[in-house]
Amino acid sequence: MTPSWQTGDPWTDGLNMLVLGKTQTGKTSLCRELHDTSPRLSVWLNATGADRVEDVPGRTVRSLSALQDALRDDCWAIEWVSDDRRRDYPRLQRLQFELADATDRSLRQQTIVDEAHELAPTGRQSQDSQLYDSQQTARRFAKRGVKRGIKHVAVTQDPTAMDSQTMRQSEHRVVFDMTSENRKSSVLKRMGFDWDAVDAGDRFTGVLFDDSGQIEERAVKAQEEYA
Ligand SMILES: Nc1ncnc2c1ncn2[C@@H]1O[C@H](COP(=O)(O)OP(=O)(O)OP(=O)(O)O)[C@@H](O)[C@H]1O
Ligand SMILES: [Mg+2]
Repeated sequence: MTPSWQTGDPWTDGLNMLVLGKTQTGKTSLCRELHDTSPRLSVWLNATGADRVEDVPGRTVRSLSALQDALRDDCWAIEWVSDDRRRDYPRLQRLQFELADATDRSLRQQTIVDEAHELAPTGRQSQDSQLYDSQQTARRFAKRGVKRGIKHVAVTQDPTAMDSQTMRQSEHRVVFDMTSENRKSSVLKRMGFDWDAVDAGDRFTGVLFDDSGQIEERAVKAQEEYA
């Protein structure tokens, strides 16, 4: 039997995705499109105030109970605007895992987190328990979400600041232009990207690699309506 996460298409399958690139390269725009067009039940955990990503498609909710209402209303693209993402990320994970288990893992879900290094920072988090929980949540999504039908999509400008255990579990990696410091970092070197392929496109064009560094798709770019 083919597992339900396997669709043969990196944009719709249930495997985790990492989106990397320096500032203003179109990472968020690409994710708006993914959020809006995915056949999955997609939840975007957004920040509030100045950090809120604008124009996220779908229904906007501001609490866990409003999110549950949206699910009951059969919304498929939901933006959760949170005033404390590190608090709400574990709550979202529990809800999505429960949903998965309640549907025998047949419901296809997606979770999008922009500025993911804020939720899953690198290193051991022993001082701040909320940060520890948030980092653990990222690892749990990345390591245990796939078999529950949940695609975790993490976006960051700075992979050197992001938890490597979480990043390692991404099958698909969309790479836009990156600073040379980042390109030279050990974490990116180990991922084995072909920078000539990335540099072949314009600023808003990335390349989709798999976890072995093979190119899955060239010229990845958000549709204009999402930019
Ligand atoms: N495919 C595209 N075509 C044209 N313009 C684009 C495209 N993608 C993004 N842009 C423009 O580039 C700018 C940055 O896009 P976006 O916010 O998606 O980048 P980002 O990589 O998420 O940046 P940051 O890291 O600063 O959050 C926006 O003004 C957007 O309109
Ligand atoms: Mg962005």
